[in-house]
Amino acid sequence: MRKLRYGCLHVKVLATYLSLKIVGFWFETFTACRKTFFRMNKKSPLSRSGRFKGGVGEDVSRFTESISFDQRLWRHDILGSIAHATMLGSIGVLSKAEAKRIVKALESIGEDIEKGSFEWDTTLEDVHMNIESELTRREPAGAKLHAGRSRNDQVALDMRMWLRDEIVELDVEISNLQKAIVDLAIENDQVVIPGYTHLQRAQPVYISHHLLAYVEMFARDHERLLDAFSRINVCPLGSGALAGSTLALDRKQVASFLGFEDAKGRPVVTQNSMDAVSDRDFAVEFCFIASMTGVHLSRLAEDLILWSSSEFDFIQISDEYTTGSSLMPQKKNPDIAEIARGKSGRLVGNLVSLLTLLKGLPMTYNRDLQEDKERLFDSVDTIRSTIRLMAAMMSNIAVKAENCKNAASDPNLLATDLTDYLVERKVPFREAHHIVGALVALAEKIDKPLNLLNIKEMEGVSKKFKADALDVFDLKKALDKRNITGSPGTKEVKKQLRSWLKRLA
Ligand code: ARG
Repeated sequence: MRKLRYGCLHVKVLATYLSLKIVGFWFETFTACRKTFFRMNKKSPLSRSGRFKGGVGEDVSRFTESISFDQRLWRHDILGSIAHATMLGSIGVLSKAEAKRIVKALESIGEDIEKGSFEWDTTLEDVHMNIESELTRREPAGAKLHAGRSRNDQVALDMRMWLRDEIVELDVEISNLQKAIVDLAIENDQVVIPGYTHLQRAQPVYISHHLLAYVEMFARDHERLLDAFSRINVCPLGSGALAGSTLALDRKQVASFLGFEDAKGRPVVTQNSMDAVSDRDFAVEFCFIASMTGVHLSRLAEDLILWSSSEFDFIQISDEYTTGSSLMPQKKNPDIAEIARGKSGRLVGNLVSLLTLLKGLPMTYNRDLQEDKERLFDSVDTIRSTIRLMAAMMSNIAVKAENCKNAASDPNLLATDLTDYLVERKVPFREAHHIVGALVALAEKIDKPLNLLNIKEMEGVSKKFKADALDVFDLKKALDKRNITGSPGTKEVKKQLRSWLKRLA
């Protein structure tokens, strides 16, 4: 499988540096943020200095703030600012010494956020202003950092960088899930079940073939992620509020610094400043991919729910991944699978929310766009936890081989093979279909399984049947015969299992 890759040395070094002790920081900063959530600050927020007389009211502040949810972008906001400062230093807007001090102060802010000692201020609206304001408090040259930059291109940058990292991690989860499914398929590679259409028994398949259908779906989700990644990995910084900048910003330097590079290592930057600040296609695309993956998970969940019911009884989900009923003592419910099925609705909801959010927006940035974050964050979190839990559950499923065998021994599953028998003896397919249909009706009428009809009874329906017609009902032979590419034949399924093992290794 192709692997996602991006980045340059600077980003990797910084990212490693900033991601020290990542566990725990979120909870602590969240708690810190809640503490300061309603604390009003008398000083004017950065965006209101000069033009406005005072701060806004508490209800306005509470309505418009995004710090309660966009603070999770802090790491990328700091990285973006370090790149911008470094670039301003190299084009002479900042002196080299100022740029150095700004980078140092930004790094120390990052450390404090990680430790949970940073105080988020709701009146400073969002993550960008919280960090910039603190930067300027620690390092007066910080007041020069926003030259040539707007929060409009800054937020687009942060989100693209954040999503890029999330996608790399999500992609690993997808292949873990595929591995768990392939493992289950390999453990049960001899097990045959009825394949269904219209939820009616149709034709026999190896259970591994059924399971590999999902591996194919998740492979497409992986491909979609890769494809979307190339559009996300484009640097919008330098677009300003909407109209770029009169300063001679080195956009390519910033892009390379932050790992916005193509496969050949060339920096990739957005080509239209107005599009760049108002474009949220990348968020919509991700929410679509999450929805599609969610729908695949939901279908898998539905199969597992059916298979674990007494009516099917093909599998047993281990106790850890099921729950009981508060009233009925005998119940063992497949709640993980049901919740996974339910989560897909939420993912589709997020996608529709984002599309609706965007559809009436005039160019360019509008504050409505702030509403994108919670939907995107929720989709990222939801799809990740759902995939992870489903993968864990797949590794805790036992297939009830005996029950599968009983269900797969229904001779009607091979009625189509009987038409193939006739077709091989030059009977036109439509006629063969009619003949076998009549045979099934006869078997039903005399209450005999199809495979127990004798040759006399078969000849009574059509003289084309010979004694060897009954060989069709040998399930093993029937599966050995299905060996065209993509079919559930013995050899073909083995080949597919081998190929997936190799691709996922
Ligand atoms: N919090 C804002 C958002 O999430 C950041 C950009 C604000 N820009 C502005 N011009 N008010 O979209």
